[in-house]
Amino acid sequence: MNYRNTIIGSMATIALLASCKKETPIYEATAEALHNGSLYYNVSEANCKSCHGTDWNGNGPEARSLKEQGLAVPDFTAALSPDKTVLDYFKAITIGTEKTKSLPSAHAYQSHTDRSRWAMANFLYSLGKPSSDEARRKTASEAAMKEIQAAYSNSRRWYMGDNKPSAEREKAPALEALLSKAGFTPSSEISVVPVSDSRREGAFHAQDSQAEGYALYKSNCQSCHGVFGEGSQGAVHLGALPGEGEGKGGIPRLKPVHASIRDLAEVGALSAGALSSAHNDKDAFGQKSHALTEEQWELLADYIKSITGK
Ligand code: HEC
Ligand code: HEC
Repeated sequence: MNYRNTIIGSMATIALLASCKKETPIYEATAEALHNGSLYYNVSEANCKSCHGTDWNGNGPEARSLKEQGLAVPDFTAALSPDKTVLDYFKAITIGTEKTKSLPSAHAYQSHTDRSRWAMANFLYSLGKPSSDEARRKTASEAAMKEIQAAYSNSRRWYMGDNKPSAEREKAPALEALLSKAGFTPSSEISVVPVSDSRREGAFHAQDSQAEGYALYKSNCQSCHGVFGEGSQGAVHLGALPGEGEGKGGIPRLKPVHASIRDLAEVGALSAGALSSAHNDKDAFGQKSHALTEEQWELLADYIKSITGK
C-alpha cells in the first residue's frame, strides 16, 4: 500500500510538474526514453531481435539469410561513423533505407508511434561507440538537430511521405551530452541472457532446416521467450485482453512489462502436449495457450527441442 501511495504521490508530482513545464520533445534521449527504447526493441511486434539479435550485434537468426542476399544487418554496438546520427536511425525505422526496400516490411515500422521510434532510435544509437572525430560528429549532430526541430516546429508528427526512403540521410542531436545529463548507462538498465555459441549455431541451423517450426515460434512465443528460447530478464509483452491495456477506442495494445522468464532449456517437458498446456496452467500475464493444431504443436515442439539442445 505504501508503495502504491508513493507511486500515486509521484504521479501527482509529475502531473503537476508537467502542467508547469514545457513538455520534453519526443526526440530527446531522456533516461526514460532510453529505457522505453530498450523495452520496445525487446518486445516489438516487428521482431527487431530476429534480425538485430538479442544482444544488438546484428546476430539474429534471420541475419544470416539476409547476408546471403547481400543485405548486412548492422552491429549497433560497433564504432559509429562520425557522420552517423540518431536521425539516421529514426529514418531507418520510419521509412526504411534504400537497401531495405526489398524486405516485406520495407523496414518502415510506422505501426510504432513517432515517440516509440525515437525511443528505439535513441536507445540503439546509445549502444554504439562514438567516433573520435569530434568536429565531424558535431557538425553532423547539429545539422540533424536543425532538421528535427524544423520538422516538429509546426507538427506533432513528422510526416516523411509514404514509406519512401530518402536518398540522403545524414545528421543528428548532441546525444552524448543528453545521455550524460540523464545519467544513463545502458548496461545497467537491461541485461542479456547469455547463450553459448554452440546453442546459437544450433538455433541458426534449426531456423534453416525447420522453417515452419521457426515461423510458429517466432510469431507466437519469441517475443517473451527470446530468439534462442533463452528467456528474459528484461521486458516481455503484457498479454492484451479486450478492454484492457493502454489502447484507445476499445483497441487493446500490447504493453511491455518487466519479468523474468526462465530458459526453455531448463524446462523439463517440451513435448507437444506439455507445450500446448504450458499456458493453461500458468497465468503468464493472461497469456493463454494458442489455438494451434496438433500438427503445429508437434512442429513447434521439434523446433523448441532443437534450439534448446534437447
Ligand atoms: C528483417 C530483418 C530486420 C528486422 C526485423 C529489423 N531490422 Fe533493422 N535493419 C535491418 C537491416 C538489413 C538494416 C541495414 C539497412 C541498410 O544497411 O541500409 C537495418 C538497419 C536498422 C537501423 C539503422 C542502423 C544504421 O546503422 O543506420 C536501425 C536503427 C534499425 N535497423 C532498427 C530496427 C528496429 C528498432 C527494428 C524493430 C522495430 C528493426 N530494426 C527490425 C534488418 C532488420
Ligand atoms: C506473453 C508472454 C509469453 C508468450 C507469448 C509465451 N509465453 Fe510461455 N511463459 C511466459 C511466462 C511469463 C512464463 C512463466 C515464467 C517461467 O516459468 O519462468 C512462461 C512459461 C512457459 C513454459 C514453462 C512452463 C513451466 O511448466 O514452467 C513453457 C514450456 C512455455 N512458456 C512455452 C511457451 C510456448 C511454446 C509459447 C508459444 C506458443 C509461449 N510460451 C508463449 C510468457 C509467455
